[in-house]
Amino acid sequence: MASNNDDMNRCLNIADLNRRAKRRLPVPIYNFLECGADDQYSSRHNCAAFDQLQIKARSLRDTSCVDLRTAVLGQELDWPVFLSPVGMTRMFHPDGELAAARAAANAGTLYTASTFSSVSMEQIAAETSGPKMFQTYVLADPVLSQEIIDRAKAAGYPAMCLTVDSIVGGNREEVIRSGMSIPLKLTLKSAFQFACKPAWVSNYLRGDKWQLANFVNAKSPAGAHYGLLEPRQSWEHAQHMIEQWQGPFAIKGIMSGEDAKRAVEIGATAVIISNHGGRQLDATPAPIELVREVREAVGPDIDVIVDGGIRRGTHVLKALAMGATACSVGRPYLYGLAAGGQAGIERALALLRSELERNMVLAGCSGITDINANLLRRAGFN
Ligand SMILES: Cc1cc2nc3c(=O)[nH]c(=O)nc-3n(C[C@H](O)[C@H](O)[C@H](O)COP(=O)(O)O)c2cc1C
Repeated sequence: MASNNDDMNRCLNIADLNRRAKRRLPVPIYNFLECGADDQYSSRHNCAAFDQLQIKARSLRDTSCVDLRTAVLGQELDWPVFLSPVGMTRMFHPDGELAAARAAANAGTLYTASTFSSVSMEQIAAETSGPKMFQTYVLADPVLSQEIIDRAKAAGYPAMCLTVDSIVGGNREEVIRSGMSIPLKLTLKSAFQFACKPAWVSNYLRGDKWQLANFVNAKSPAGAHYGLLEPRQSWEHAQHMIEQWQGPFAIKGIMSGEDAKRAVEIGATAVIISNHGGRQLDATPAPIELVREVREAVGPDIDVIVDGGIRRGTHVLKALAMGATACSVGRPYLYGLAAGGQAGIERALALLRSELERNMVLAGCSGITDINANLLRRAGFN
């Protein structure tokens, strides 16, 4: 019988891992991973927008030694792609966040732990000595917010990320239609879909109960999920959190040059251009379309991260050429996790990295600093 590693090695790109994940997950869980909000324009467009850019390869350059190393949020990475925050990761595989943190460290990149993780931030931090960041929201309870920030600092996260695009949950109709809810409540339809994936069900029944692990022992009382978030969040909240953190700080969910500039003015050291993978507001531009505007707004010294729609090494190359410092990925690593646990995530990251490296050689770039706007043109005839 083929080993899990052999099986993962048969996946030749992120789309192969996606197909494998779809085969393994019950429909409601796969839909939760994959689906965007409303008509899913943004989740589709995040990927499709990359097709509007073409790469003008430069010839006859020495690319015998390609250096992918970079620094993001004050941490050294072996290459410029890292893992976006994802809540309740154990729903895709019982090894969940711990597998993802280990895989990121093995791949020489950064893992972002979500505040809504199914394993506590302390357990995740203890699992990896690699680069890492903790992601939070503006929480309604200021005492709880301070507590979360203090715990992240004590657990050894060098950087903090504040997500600002999720005051309410996105309208993910396919997720609702397939009967998905957290905690899981079976309907007639979803019971059948879960029954079709007995291996997943067996893992679910044998594993620990899903919970928002960071809030289980919180001193302040916590409700569930969106009930925890401050509905009147403001720039003053963000500035206060930056002052509380006093270290590298990213604001995630920035979707305009204006907001990027404001983020820097209140002390953020990085902005993550993101529409939450198209899971929140639909009809937004794709993050890749906003890189130039955001880079112009924040200047050369701020980390600009592109998050959303990255599925290929060429996508990373295009994002860097537009002016991004690095990219981060959500679904690509979740496909890997669902398909094969830690080995699947490592496969996803290895594929993206080897594609990027090959594309850089083919485009005539031997280092990140060789990648610039001269490499790009818009699709179509001059
Ligand atoms: C299943 C799932 C759960 C997510 N949970 C969070 C979260 O807890 N916090 C957050 O800031 N973003 C969350 N995101 C958004 C990701 O961090 C990221 O912005 C998005 O996945 C990027 O798009 P991509 O999936 O096309 O790479 C989640 C995304 C998915 C798919």
